[in-house]
Amino acid sequence: MAQQQQHWDAIILGAGAAGLMAALTAGQRGRRVLVVDHNDEPGRKILISGGGRCNFTNIHTAPDRFLSANPHFAKSALSRYTPQDFLQLVEAHGIAWHEKTLGQLFCDGSAKQIVAMLMDDCERGGVQFAFGAAAAEVSHADGQFVVRLGGVTHRAPSLVIATGGPAIPKIGATAFAYELARQFGLKVVQPRPALVPFTLGEGEALFRSLSGVAVPVVVRCGKTQFREAALFTHKGLSGPAMLQISSYWTHGEAIHVDFLPDMDRGWLMDAKRAAPRAALRSVLARSLPERLADALAERLALPGELGAMSDAKLRAAEERLARWPFTPSGTEGFAKAEVTAGGIATAGLSSQTMAARHLPGLYAVGEAVDVTGWLGGYNFQWAWASGHAAGTAI
Ligand code: FDA
Repeated sequence: MAQQQQHWDAIILGAGAAGLMAALTAGQRGRRVLVVDHNDEPGRKILISGGGRCNFTNIHTAPDRFLSANPHFAKSALSRYTPQDFLQLVEAHGIAWHEKTLGQLFCDGSAKQIVAMLMDDCERGGVQFAFGAAAAEVSHADGQFVVRLGGVTHRAPSLVIATGGPAIPKIGATAFAYELARQFGLKVVQPRPALVPFTLGEGEALFRSLSGVAVPVVVRCGKTQFREAALFTHKGLSGPAMLQISSYWTHGEAIHVDFLPDMDRGWLMDAKRAAPRAALRSVLARSLPERLADALAERLALPGELGAMSDAKLRAAEERLARWPFTPSGTEGFAKAEVTAGGIATAGLSSQTMAARHLPGLYAVGEAVDVTGWLGGYNFQWAWASGHAAGTAI
């Protein structure tokens, strides 16, 4: 029996943030668009994002908040579709929002509103969907991309890879984007888990016993630093500060934590003069959670009264508290990562349109591409901006 044929202007693989933005943009320009997703509903990651409220953008979006082998690549798309553009869309759909902290914008209600908004706009653009359909067989011949789904052969001159990265496979995330990219001659920068908790080895068992303790810190790795909360977990270190720095960390490297970033130099000597009979542990407990103060004092191994300690010893303790080294044994991996760093190499793509340079009609957008944002709404902004760039071009 002959296969049924369907013709489109564009086939978009992946009904996530970037794919839906590309689809609604192209659809509203009059393009006939098919979106294919193996999940049976769109935007699974949007739905679980931001604790169910979707941190949909960050008003401080700037290219230096994104990691990529080419730090300039994201500039063009980010400047042509800004957080204000997305906010206009959110407001046009009557979705109430608020700024939580550090420029992070969240829905007042639910992330479901963002998915409904994107789907409404897709509908206005006449976009068609094939859910529950793994895009396993994709080929290209005579200027047409061919995607076979069940008994139907879909053809289009444009194909958009928007299947994201492999972070959180249990909700349908896959590395399919990289397979497809390689099939069509694009290179892939080694994907790795990012915005991910660290694990600590046996040597750091004392800290693992602090599970549940949170504390504001400055964390540093190489030249990068973040000032946010750290959280001790039963496996290691998490919290926004650790998730942020994890994107910059490579295996074997140490990270350094300043547990008391607001203290002035010499504060321990001042404490000794003010209360010479106090113990280090109780001085630390004035500014830190008690369990952490205990653990740090135990590691610093300076028992007795402050007054009995030399200034040199106190200075060394102060320096250690400001640059406490941890060498993570690893991370909790793709199972717990919020995003994937690395991905389809930007060298093969146009930064204006996200089109492959060597194969007309092929595009890649969103997390599938080697552009990774900080925590706090930056990854969705990249998905919207890159999706919009491709949606305008197809
Ligand atoms: P996305 O993963 O959204 O979409 C890819 C789509 O492709 C999925 O629908 C998937 O089912 C489909 N797919 C995959 N393989 C396929 C195949 N072989 N065939 C067919 N379909 C396939 N970011 C942010 O800015 N603010 C936030 O609040 C959060 N919060 C957050 C929480 C959690 C728990 C996670 C895991 C992630 C976040 N993020 C985030 C990151 C954000 O969710 C992410 O960067 C974007 O969803 C990426 O959008 P994409 O469209 O590129 O991929």
